Amino acid sequence: MWKLFSNRNQDNEDISLDGNNIPRHIAIIMDGNGRWAKQRNLPRSMGHKAGVENIREIVKECSNLGVKYLTLYAFSTENWKRPAEEVNALMKLLVEYLKKEVEELHKNKVVVKSIGQIESLPSICRDELKNAYEKTKNNTGLILNLALNYGGRDEILRGIKLLYEDLNMEKIILEDVNSEVFSKYLYTKDMCDPDLIIRPSGEQRISNFLLWQCAYSEFWYSDIKWPDFKKEHLHKAIYDFQNRDRRFGGIK
Ligand code: FPP
Repeated sequence: MWKLFSNRNQDNEDISLDGNNIPRHIAIIMDGNGRWAKQRNLPRSMGHKAGVENIREIVKECSNLGVKYLTLYAFSTENWKRPAEEVNALMKLLVEYLKKEVEELHKNKVVVKSIGQIESLPSICRDELKNAYEKTKNNTGLILNLALNYGGRDEILRGIKLLYEDLNMEKIILEDVNSEVFSKYLYTKDMCDPDLIIRPSGEQRISNFLLWQCAYSEFWYSDIKWPDFKKEHLHKAIYDFQNRDRRFGGIK
């Protein structure tokens, strides 16, 4: 059944969305919190706090539109280089977010998952994540996938090591290794690749995010800082996505 999400943007342009061509997997680099705070003479942690508050609206809208996977880049393997104060603030925000939102997420049938080296996060974060996974694991709605202590290179190296072990144990033979098989050694083994990767804040780079999985993703950039990235911007990103010509290396 064909479904249309009727919509107009602030300039009264028609940006209605084709309900049959909603990206299955959207991934977002939640960038610009620090600059958002600086513009307001606030500490960086306040930018992150505003960034976390913004997650609710985007998760809700992705659920409404029927997106299957939403991956949020919340903390990279390189973010440990930041001052301890900022790292601690981010960990605290993660715990607060999960504590505060898990009931609502559960009510909205969201499944909470994560990718990255979760085992190296502080135990309080791990406990709260475990609680969220457990509570939401049987839900059937949007899969909210938090990239935490995640790095694309780290994920690929980890995958190579796991594959090497399986080769050594003769669980698989080298001749059978192809990209589909290798994908099963990545954190994202149960997900499809991202169709659309969104990066607000004006930066146009991938920053070690989903390096393997982004082979045929469509990219969407905007100058808006993450705390200001609202439902209407998500709609515009999806609208632009629906007007792209995806050929996956082939021809039409
Ligand atoms: C990038 O902005 C943002 C991050 C490195 C962290 C994003 C994290 C959150 C929004 C909060 C934690 C997440 C959850 C799921 C609770 P930046 O600090 O690089 O901004 P800047 O480039 O303007 O300095």
